[in-house]
Amino acid sequence: MTATTLLYEGKAKKVYATSDLQCYIVDYKDEATAFNGAKKATLSGKGSLNNRISNSLMQYLQKQGIATHFIQELSPTQTLVKRLDMFALEVIVRNICAGSLAKRLGIKEGTPFEPTIVEFCYKNDSLGDPLINDVHALVLGLASQEELESLKSLALKINTLLQAYFKNLGIMLVDFKLEFGKDGEGNIVLGDEVSPDTCRLWDTRTHQKLDKDRFREDLGGVCEAYEMVLEKMSHS
Ligand code: TMP
Ligand code: ASP
Repeated sequence: MTATTLLYEGKAKKVYATSDLQCYIVDYKDEATAFNGAKKATLSGKGSLNNRISNSLMQYLQKQGIATHFIQELSPTQTLVKRLDMFALEVIVRNICAGSLAKRLGIKEGTPFEPTIVEFCYKNDSLGDPLINDVHALVLGLASQEELESLKSLALKINTLLQAYFKNLGIMLVDFKLEFGKDGEGNIVLGDEVSPDTCRLWDTRTHQKLDKDRFREDLGGVCEAYEMVLEKMSHS
């Protein structure tokens, strides 16, 4: 299967149509952005690291009964995926306090949450992907109440699976962002990517950050950290 028309270019990926109407090709870029694109850099090798990490995680989730868009890895940076009608929502799951929540609520980074927090953000670059509640989502027509409940329970199920997976590798799953869509039959399916760009991952022993916070916080060694995650995953 080869890419035909470029349908969409995002900050970290390009999406192409293919000869099969039900399939797209995603191509991971080496660009890193943060703070809604205000900070930018090219990190050589990041695209292929995220492609491989996300595909392995999607395959793991698929084996555990979670429907994902993953079909086949085509090259180091390109993957064939199922076409989905995406919800304009980001579903964020937080096990431990970090990032925007630490700032917003004044809670110290590293504080564990019980119960786990699930948040929705409205996927809208010009508004800076604002945090919204269920009623906002309904008013904006982003999903039905039943779909919002399904998204929350799927996100928590994925959290349980990924937490166990990373725990085995000596990695703490601090928080992460998921995006879902609907396939041709109306099933809710996990799309986008699951990678160190979209998850906070800390070394369990040292609490070293192994994710995009290395870029956001100018800690250096971004690709080296992603490489370490992939390396640990290859032994699982
Ligand atoms: P936050 O603490 O900045 O709100 O981020 C929460 C989680 O969501 C974190 O794992 C990073 C991820 N994330 C994305 O994948 N894309 C984004 O645009 C943002 C803001 C966060
Ligand atoms: N992905 C967002 C951006 O590109 C924000 C982030 O991940 O921090 O700006």
